[in-house]
Amino acid sequence: MARLILGCGNFGGIGSAPAFFGQGESEEEAFALMDAAWGQGITAFDTADAYGGGCSETWIGRWMTSRGHRPSITTKVFHSVAGDPADEGLSRERITRQIDGSLERLGVDRVDTYMAHEPDPDTPVEETMRAIAELLEVGKAGAIGASNVDRGWLDEARSVAPIAVVQNSYSLLDREAQDEVLPSCTEHGIAFTAFGPLAGGWLAGKYRRGKPLPAGSRMTLRPEPYRHLDDDAVYRGLEQLDEAASRRGVDMPTLAFAWLLSDPRVAAVVVGPRRPEQLEPAVAALDLHLAEGERDALASLFP
Ligand SMILES: NC(=O)c1ccc[n+]([C@@H]2O[C@H](COP(=O)([O-])OP(=O)(O)OC[C@H]3O[C@@H](n4cnc5c(N)ncnc54)[C@H](OP(=O)(O)O)[C@@H]3O)[C@@H](O)[C@H]2O)c1
Repeated sequence: MARLILGCGNFGGIGSAPAFFGQGESEEEAFALMDAAWGQGITAFDTADAYGGGCSETWIGRWMTSRGHRPSITTKVFHSVAGDPADEGLSRERITRQIDGSLERLGVDRVDTYMAHEPDPDTPVEETMRAIAELLEVGKAGAIGASNVDRGWLDEARSVAPIAVVQNSYSLLDREAQDEVLPSCTEHGIAFTAFGPLAGGWLAGKYRRGKPLPAGSRMTLRPEPYRHLDDDAVYRGLEQLDEAASRRGVDMPTLAFAWLLSDPRVAAVVVGPRRPEQLEPAVAALDLHLAEGERDALASLFP
C-alpha cells in the first residue's frame, strides 16, 4: 500500500457535517490539490459519499475524467449525502443503495476500498459486513474496510467479512489506537491507516498559547473535536515538538508525519492539506526515519 493517501474530506465542506456543505475547498482548489498530489506520486485518494454533500466524490470523478488518471479510491458509507438525519447508518438496504450513488458520482464501476465510516449501533454488525462483503462478490469494491472502530467491533466484523483496511484517528495528540486497534490490525494482517495526522492542524503549530486563532482555520470553523487540546500541557508539548523539529532542521508537521510514518505498523497516512504546498511536509517525512527511541521521546511530550 502507498504510504500517503490524499484526504479529500475538505472538498466542498468539512467532512460529512451538513452545516459546512458548500464550504471548504472549491472545485478548482480541489483540482489543484489532486494535481499536486498526483505530481508528488500520491496515487491513493480518500473520500466518503457524504463529504461536502457528495462534492468530494463528484469532483474526484470529474478530475479523473479530465486528467485521465485513475487513483486508488477509498470511499465510505454512513452519513447522509443530502444532510438528512433520517437517512444514515449501515443497514443492508442503505449500503446497497449508497454504493451505487458513490460509483455514479465517481464515474467508475468499482471502488478500490469500501468502508463503513463508523459503527452503527442500530444495525447488527453481521448485517453490515455481509452487505459490504457482497460488494466484493459483485465486483463493486476491490477490498473492504472500516473506520472509527474499536477492537470489539473489529473482532466481530472480521468474523463475518474479510476486512483488509482500518482507518482510525492516530497522531501524537491522539494515540488511542495504539492500545488495541493497531496491535489487533498487526496481528490479523489488516492494514492500519491513520487519519487526522496533524490533529486538525494542532501538530502543524497553528495554535499557540495566548495567540488568536488564525482566520479560517479548523479551530474557527469546526472546533468541537479539538477543544480539549486548548490546554497548558498540550501547548508545552507543542513548544517542545517545535524545538525538536528545529534541532533536526525540519518543521513541526514534517516531524509529526515522520512520527507516524516511522511506525512500521502504520500502513499509510491520510493527509489533509488545504493548499498544494501543504503536501510538502508529508512527502518530506517519507525520508525522515525516526528510531523507536526517538518516537517514544516525542510521544512522551504529550502524556
Ligand atoms: N474516517 C474518518 O472518520 C475521517 C475523519 C477525519 C478525516 N478523515 C480523512 O482524513 C483526511 C485528513 O484528516 P484531517 O483533515 O483531520 O487531517 P489533519 O492533518 O489532522 O488536519 C488537517 C488540517 O491541518 C492543517 N494542515 C494540513 N497540512 C498542513 C500543513 N502542511 N501546514 C499547516 N497546516 C496544515 C489544515 O488546517 P486548516 O484547515 O486550519 O488550515 C488542515 O485542514 C481527511 O481529508 C479525510 O479524507 C477521515
